[in-house]
Amino acid sequence: MIKKLFCVLIFFLFILAACKREPSGSGASAAENDGLIVVGFSQVGSESDWRIANTKSMRETFSEEKGYRLIFRDAQQKQENQIAAIREFIALNVDYIVFAPVTEEGWDEVLNEALSSGVPVVVMDRMISTSDDQLYTCWVGSNFRKESETAVEWMEKKFKDKNELKIVHIQGNLGSSAQIGRTEGLLAGVHKNPGWEVVYAASGDFTQVRGKEVMEYVLKQYDYFDVLFCENDNMAFGAIEAMTVAKREYGVNGGVSVISFDATRAGLIATLDGAICFNVECNPLLGPRVETIINQLKNGETPAKLAYVEEAVFETATITRGDIDAREY
Ligand code: AHR
Repeated sequence: MIKKLFCVLIFFLFILAACKREPSGSGASAAENDGLIVVGFSQVGSESDWRIANTKSMRETFSEEKGYRLIFRDAQQKQENQIAAIREFIALNVDYIVFAPVTEEGWDEVLNEALSSGVPVVVMDRMISTSDDQLYTCWVGSNFRKESETAVEWMEKKFKDKNELKIVHIQGNLGSSAQIGRTEGLLAGVHKNPGWEVVYAASGDFTQVRGKEVMEYVLKQYDYFDVLFCENDNMAFGAIEAMTVAKREYGVNGGVSVISFDATRAGLIATLDGAICFNVECNPLLGPRVETIINQLKNGETPAKLAYVEEAVFETATITRGDIDAREY
């Protein structure tokens, strides 16, 4: 009798253990049975059109139909949320960890944990600064400094006859490599061109709402400036809205020359309309590039440690309707 009871108990314990496995769609252990490759992805948030397009690209690439289970975590702009997500991915024993870092600094500890777990880490979009580059497998994203240098070159040509240039600078999230690179590029341009001056700089957090708020403040403080150097399209839209309300002239026909980054579809429309004079592309369609890296790793190949995405520029004088129609985001 005791033997029988013992067998029943073992049986129930076995069933219980099986039921405790991750529910479908949330973890690696669920995929062990269905053969899907499990990718844990920690996204920055949803601050901009660029970010939304980037999330879409990742979701479309790492779909179940294509053989993946994507565990998506939105960090809501907080590094601590990204660190917690990476720890969760390690605990779930996912096949690959991908993350778009909100800031450059502060990743060593959690990446050491990932390294010890053996799960490959692919960094995408923004860069990180680590004490040891072996802490991540590889990175794919934009050359933010180069983007900014391209905008500076355009300014040098456009304002070559001006002895003085007053610039208002709306920055992205302070400490993110997108902000650091774009700011460094502009400041190098200011250093090189003696008549140039940044009269005001503040962060607009890459959002439309903050871009508008920063510009509302600027318009009250400064009766005149030549250039708005805005580190993404959404902040430019907010700033343009503020200038429209305040009846401050802007655009290709006179007044403030607006320079922006991302070149989203809405950004390109504003460029064609002449509200934005120069727009530097930042490509969010990184899903397929991350997938290529994962395929290389799967096949035992070594992906390039750093892979920069090619990016174009657009200006009102040369942009076409076709450029906008071709835009996926
Ligand atoms: O890291 C890319 C930047 O982040 C984009 O320029 C911006 O729009 C986004 O939020």
